[in-house]
Amino acid sequence: MKSMAGRDAARSVASGMRLGLGTGSTVACFLEHLGARIAHGELSGVVGVPTSVRTEKHARGLGIALSTLEDVGSLDLTVDGADEVDPGLDLVKGLGGALLREKMVAQASDRMMVIVDESKLVGRLGEIAPLPVEVVPFGHGCHMGWLRGLGAEPGVRDGGNGHPYRTDNGNLVVDCRFPGGIEDPAGLERRLAGRAGVVESGLFLGMATEVVVAGAEGVRRVARS
Ligand code: A5P
Repeated sequence: MKSMAGRDAARSVASGMRLGLGTGSTVACFLEHLGARIAHGELSGVVGVPTSVRTEKHARGLGIALSTLEDVGSLDLTVDGADEVDPGLDLVKGLGGALLREKMVAQASDRMMVIVDESKLVGRLGEIAPLPVEVVPFGHGCHMGWLRGLGAEPGVRDGGNGHPYRTDNGNLVVDCRFPGGIEDPAGLERRLAGRAGVVESGLFLGMATEVVVAGAEGVRRVARS
């Protein structure tokens, strides 16, 4: 299903586009299809801005030309995955740890196309996935009680190497479970944005312009109305 979604998104790319390249296993499928279209001469002049070191390495290996946000300034289209998509096309992202760069690249894009399999569709954000919150390492423990006060069950993400997980920016991620889901995502986003030491949250509200959903019945597209 991830490959179906990735193939569909790769068909939306036109020659000369400046593309934001998201992060995750579904995006990895998209990159394969995009790389194949470029290699077959179907596309030319496409430039990608990767949102993680992982995506950068993968895209480079496929022969996709890369640039930086500084150099391109703005982008035509970002293609990215998501951990949850709600009926209004709001998202939870960041289980792959790339939320900050993903949000910066999406904000610099005219369109954000999200590619998911149907398991990511939820009635309410936070129902299935924890909300990742990127924080600077300094004093990060002081956020835990504050986050609990917002209804979260927070936990510092483990790096699997005896140390906390570090993002590409050298920060930590606090995964916040919200039993029953997030009641007021916009209000929560405001609270998090106002907290010193919090770098970014995985709430992507009002950003996705279209979602490609792959399911047992095939691929369908939903556009923001
Ligand atoms: C990366 O930081 C995330 O925002 C990903 O977009 C998200 O985890 C989706 O990944 P998969 O496509 O692997 O499910």
